[in-house]
Amino acid sequence: MEQKRYGHFDDQHREYVITDPQTPWPWINYLGNEDFFSLISNTAGGYSFYKDAKFRRITRYRYNNVPMDNGGRYFYIKDGDTVWNPGWKPCKTPLDFYECRHGMSYTRITGRKNGIEASVLFFVPLKKWAEVQKLTLTNQSKEVKQLKLFSFEEWCLWNAATDMENFQRNFSTGEVEIEGSTIYHKTEYRERRNHYAFYHVNAPIQGFDTDRETFVGLYNAFADPQAVMEGKPRNSHAHGWSPIASHYIEVTLQPGESKDFVFLLGYIENEQDEKFEAPQVINKKKAHALIAELDTTEKVDKAFAALCEYWDALLNIYKVKTGNDKLDRMVNIWNQYQCMVTFNFSRSASFFESGVGRGMGFRDSNQDLVGFVHQIPPRARQRIIDIASTQFPDGGCYHQYQPLTKRGNNDIGGGFNDDPCWLIFGTVAYIKETGDFSILDEMVPFDNQPGTEVTLFEHLKISMDHVIKNLGPHMLPLIGRADWNDCLNLNCFSWDPNESFQTTENVSEGTKAESLMIAGLFVVTGKDYVALCKKIGKADEAARMQQAVDAMIEAVKKDGWDGEWYLRAYDFYGRKIGSNECDEAKIFIESQGWCTMAEIGAEDGMVAKSLDSCKKYLECEHGMVLNNPAFSKYIYEYGEISSYPEGYKENAGIFCHNNPWVIIGETLAGRGNDAWNHYAKILPSYVEEKYQTLHKVEPYVNCQMVAGKDAFRPGEGKNSWLTGTAAWMWYTVSEFILGIKPDYDGIRIDPCLPETATDYTVNRKFREAEYEITIHPNGSQKGVKSITLDGKPIDGTVIPYSAGKHTVEVTM
Ligand code: BGC
Repeated sequence: MEQKRYGHFDDQHREYVITDPQTPWPWINYLGNEDFFSLISNTAGGYSFYKDAKFRRITRYRYNNVPMDNGGRYFYIKDGDTVWNPGWKPCKTPLDFYECRHGMSYTRITGRKNGIEASVLFFVPLKKWAEVQKLTLTNQSKEVKQLKLFSFEEWCLWNAATDMENFQRNFSTGEVEIEGSTIYHKTEYRERRNHYAFYHVNAPIQGFDTDRETFVGLYNAFADPQAVMEGKPRNSHAHGWSPIASHYIEVTLQPGESKDFVFLLGYIENEQDEKFEAPQVINKKKAHALIAELDTTEKVDKAFAALCEYWDALLNIYKVKTGNDKLDRMVNIWNQYQCMVTFNFSRSASFFESGVGRGMGFRDSNQDLVGFVHQIPPRARQRIIDIASTQFPDGGCYHQYQPLTKRGNNDIGGGFNDDPCWLIFGTVAYIKETGDFSILDEMVPFDNQPGTEVTLFEHLKISMDHVIKNLGPHMLPLIGRADWNDCLNLNCFSWDPNESFQTTENVSEGTKAESLMIAGLFVVTGKDYVALCKKIGKADEAARMQQAVDAMIEAVKKDGWDGEWYLRAYDFYGRKIGSNECDEAKIFIESQGWCTMAEIGAEDGMVAKSLDSCKKYLECEHGMVLNNPAFSKYIYEYGEISSYPEGYKENAGIFCHNNPWVIIGETLAGRGNDAWNHYAKILPSYVEEKYQTLHKVEPYVNCQMVAGKDAFRPGEGKNSWLTGTAAWMWYTVSEFILGIKPDYDGIRIDPCLPETATDYTVNRKFREAEYEITIHPNGSQKGVKSITLDGKPIDGTVIPYSAGKHTVEVTM
């Protein structure tokens, strides 16, 4: 099937350029890096929030709406009888030219119609709680143009969940203030909120609207708001109902003339005793100050330059030059960018995650760290402390916490028995990157309760112990509510569609449900833990845990092997899951990934057999599926996994997240060709080239799931952006394929490449050092023959750390 193209990469500017607004699905970007965030689609849809997409939503957005992607920051331009938007939507007036450039934390959307160009640059300046929208209007025609410009934002009443359901209250609480060219949103400020938002423009306005129905008209839509269609603002003042913010500006442009308007969507917090400047009037001092920092083109351009420099610096930490553009652009730009985004949002807010259902995941956020720790280590450090603070004294933990409060989320609770191990995974990655062992001595509470603090190291110890204390009849880890696969619910037993698979555990007393995925994870992280203990002089603890790791390896070899691959689990009754004896789902990817990463039974050929089975049963054109064959019916004993139609999500979808586990297994086994083939299949730049229409979702980032070979439309992607795939793809390519591995005492060099690989160079900043590492593969898939550091040969494969600039040559 011929595939239509909707855009292309612009590597020089680190942008993806969308040239047709009617993409197969909204293709979005993220703005903001620390506190104030926005999601923005290629037609300017999306929303903003402060820290927490559930509790502090600033603008309103409608998920699951018709048309899709409804609501955003819209500019309406009325030029005679023609009304259009630079991003095509919502009016959908055909444009003479359209382009959306998604870049690193910014998006630029340009539209042209009847001789007018409107170009909007959207970004959140560093350290500012505001989204800038710099609109440049240019008259490219030969006539004088009189334009009517309307801006538009719709306020969310802060809590995104109640905003969508509690209309009996919401329709009476909305309040705004208008001052000059600024519209303030202050719903609930009169009572318990100490924050408000504003929407400002740095030009005099000739009118405004703040009441949605007055502006749009009860029987109209965003595509034809009455005020815009008639070219007449109503100067409405919202009292309840749905407050909005719309500026009206009359613009005259001479031929060739260009004018900038800086729109600013800001968020302010005030101290309790400084909330009001007069009864019922909000104190606007901080808003005025923020506006003053960004009220001219020059100031905005400077803030934008600073943002670009920030990304220059971040993307200079790891840079590869292989000569393969498709690989280089993912490694140097998009994969690292996506890692920052997943670090910031975990799985909370995307066009598939509504921002109200999930906060920061315990396992998710730990995994996200391996993709991010090299970028801004101090933020990674704080994240580890925050995550560990949601642990319980027995080593178990909350599955999720809310970013605003940093408190564990009671709706989800705990009991996911893989969770604790991930804390080791994240912490070890942090220490290897930074050499900062002091984090282990940080005092960290349990469940955020002051007075319960123990060292972070103690948290790691109880994490390992949590696995050891929860073993089943085969001495394999009990699965609990679920392991990494949230949908393998072996103690759930639900016939009630109103029960959540994730949080319901109807029977667990007497369970024999064990997980081979946790077994592998325990061995991998256990080895890391042992090495860490040795490194910090805790020999006894190292020996104790080594024994537990050895015992787990034996248990897997004895009761976790099916002959050609590792079993997946034992169910409640102790029956095999993921075995040749099963009717369906005979093999699962998770245990192949983790047990090959743990190299369990490598000496007996188990690893090689497992990897071969992945190729034989799981691999297809678009990647490796999660299980094979797919479940064709709901299985009460297994839970959610069997609830999905064949080929989707956890039922035999290509869950991109766990493809890298097998790929790492391949690299450890030295099978560079196989590793590369698996990797390229889910590498966005390769998918972009071949499958833009079929794949549907953004071609510049990984998505969580691509429909598998049993699906109706294999290759169709879903759940883009917020997925552990980002961090795992990064970890895989940077450390295991290209082979640059941070270690306690330096950088370990251990590439695993396809035999067609040619010489390549990695520039790696590491602590206070900067290495230029050139690898000469010489047709070899694995095995470093010799290394020189600054011209002198070194022993072994670890470049010993020392500050300063170094050149490294590696011969394979
Ligand atoms: C969740 C992960 C989980 C995965 C597999 C994702 O949606 O964020 O925590 O491991 O699904 O079920």
